[in-house]
Formats: sequence, structure tokens, C-alpha cells
Amino acid sequence: MKDRKIIFSGIQPSGDLTLGNYLGAIINWIPLQEEYNCIYSIVDLHALTVRQTPAELRKRTRSLLALYIACGLDPEKNILFVQSHNSAHAELAWILDCYTYMGELNRMTQFKEKAQKHAENINAGLFTYPVLMAADILLYQADMVPVGDDQRQHLEITRDIAQRFNNIYGDVFKVPEPYIPKVGARIMSLQEPEKKMSKSDENSNSYISLLDDPNVIIKKFKRAVTDSEVQVRYDVDNKPGISNLMSIYASVTGKSYEEIESEFEGKGYGDFKLAVGQVVADTLKPIQEKHKELMENKDYLDQIMKDGVERAGRLSYRTLRKVYKKIGLVPRP
Ligand code: TRP
Repeated sequence: MKDRKIIFSGIQPSGDLTLGNYLGAIINWIPLQEEYNCIYSIVDLHALTVRQTPAELRKRTRSLLALYIACGLDPEKNILFVQSHNSAHAELAWILDCYTYMGELNRMTQFKEKAQKHAENINAGLFTYPVLMAADILLYQADMVPVGDDQRQHLEITRDIAQRFNNIYGDVFKVPEPYIPKVGARIMSLQEPEKKMSKSDENSNSYISLLDDPNVIIKKFKRAVTDSEVQVRYDVDNKPGISNLMSIYASVTGKSYEEIESEFEGKGYGDFKLAVGQVVADTLKPIQEKHKELMENKDYLDQIMKDGVERAGRLSYRTLRKVYKKIGLVPRP
């Protein structure tokens, strides 16, 4: 690998990627591949904290890899791999579990939310989820982690665990920083624009999947919740629905809010929603075609996974061996 800073991030294969993942995250990852050593994992072990249908999980894992590539992540320039293929993640997670306090994990807002949502299955994995995430990041000595607001607390605990470990054993882990992209859209639900667009939302009208058909995309935008005014105007507090549609339209077309406001001056919400639906459908079309082509080429995807985990494995075992040695585990003869 070239001598560059390391970026690590992961996405769970727990549903199709949404327009929110694309405009809020992945689109910002594309230029990074020229400047950093980027490692992107499909974090299937994290997905197990919620009950999955095995055949679907398998399919979505491959599909997510195909989507990473279809969105423009070059598998030569980035390391793309499936988390469960590299056993170092689970191994380091166990060690770090022993350096993480119950009280710390109890404070995690995502745990509290998920425990409420999946009250019938509050498993120990859900509780220690942030420790596995810390292991993901620390194994690669990542300098930076691009994360959205909802993952900030998890990055904070990762830093705390790394510092705690380093205080006892010397400089073992790089303490990662959050990476905040210069431009980052925060895309909200189309049905409840105060909430982030999420692939695990029960109401599929609330999100655009990157794999939705063009007519479905147009229909979902048509149904998007707005307000009782008629003017296309950016005002997050009073017009969250319209503002969200404007930020989608702005991200996709590169137009400013003022330009959008004058473009739709005197036109109704109907025209605006249709225009947003159409540009989104047009933007996703080439991604969908590339995804389809990749999904039909199983050998190619297998090769990418194999190559990715070989490269990831080499880096992570360096860290893991060092950790084992520092804490006093006898090296395997
Ligand atoms: N918890 C992250 C999410 O749900 C996914 C994730 C797992 C991750 N491991 C990571 C993100 C490491 C960044 C770095 O979005």
C-alpha cells in the first residue's frame, strides 16, 4: 500500500442502500480513493444483531459489494471486503470487550433505541455492537472514519477504548478521528422529514432504494410528505419536507437553493416533486445497470471478495498479533 492516511468505514447488509447512504456517504467516498488508503467493509457480523433470513443476508451481502463498485468505488484503489471473512474482527472484539465497561455501553443512544425497537430480541450482541465496531476500526490503524451523526457516539467510544488500551500497554492503536466531508447531504425520510432516511424503516415509501425502478422512484417522490404552503422555499424548521426534497435536488443537480427556488417560482409542489423524481431516477440508472451486470458475474465478485480479504487480513493481523503479545497471550508455536 502507498504511504497514505488510512480511512475505514463500513455499511451493514441489512437492507438495500438508500439514496441517503448514496448522497450522504458513498458519493463523498469516491474522491477519497485518490488521496487515502480506503478500506470499506460490508459488516455482516453487525447485521446479525437483528434476526436475518439467511438466504437474504447472503444475497444482500453480494448485492452491497456490487453496489459499492457500481457507485464508483474502484476495487483496485480501495480495499473492499466482507467483515466475516476476516476472523480478526471477532477476535479483537472479544479482547476489547474486556476493556470496555458496561456503564459505557449502557449510555449508547443507539443501543437504547434498538432495544426499544426490538424489545423481543435484546441480545448481548446488540449491547456490545460498538465494541465490534471499535475492533473494525482499530485493527487497521485507521486515521479517519467517515461517519454520520448517528455514529459519532460509537466513534467516541472507539477512541476511549483505544486510549485506555494505549495507556496500559503503550502505543498499540492509532486513535481515529471522525472524517467530515466538505459537502455532505443529510437526507431525511420522505414520510417523516424530521427523521433520517433509513433502509430499515418499515414504510418503504419513506426511502428510495438505489435499486428502485424509475416508476417507483417517481411515485415515492409524488407521495413525499410536504406542507400546506405552495412555495418551493428552503426552510428546514418550518418546511422540513420541501427542504429535504430541495437538498436531494441540489445534491443531484449541483444547483444552489436560490437557483431551485427561482426555477420553481410560481409552480406547484407537484411539478417540483416530479422533477426531483426524474433527476433521481436518471442519476440512479447507470448505477442500476452496472449493479445488474456485476450481479450476473459471480466469479468476478468472488474474486473481489477474495482479493479484498487477503489485503485486509494482512493489515489486521499485524495489529492483532501485537495486541496478543502485549496482553500476555502465549504466541501460537
Ligand atoms: N455501525 C455502523 C452503522 O450502522 C456500521 C459500521 C460498523 C461502521 N463498523 C464500522 C462504520 C466501522 C464505520 C466504521 O452505520
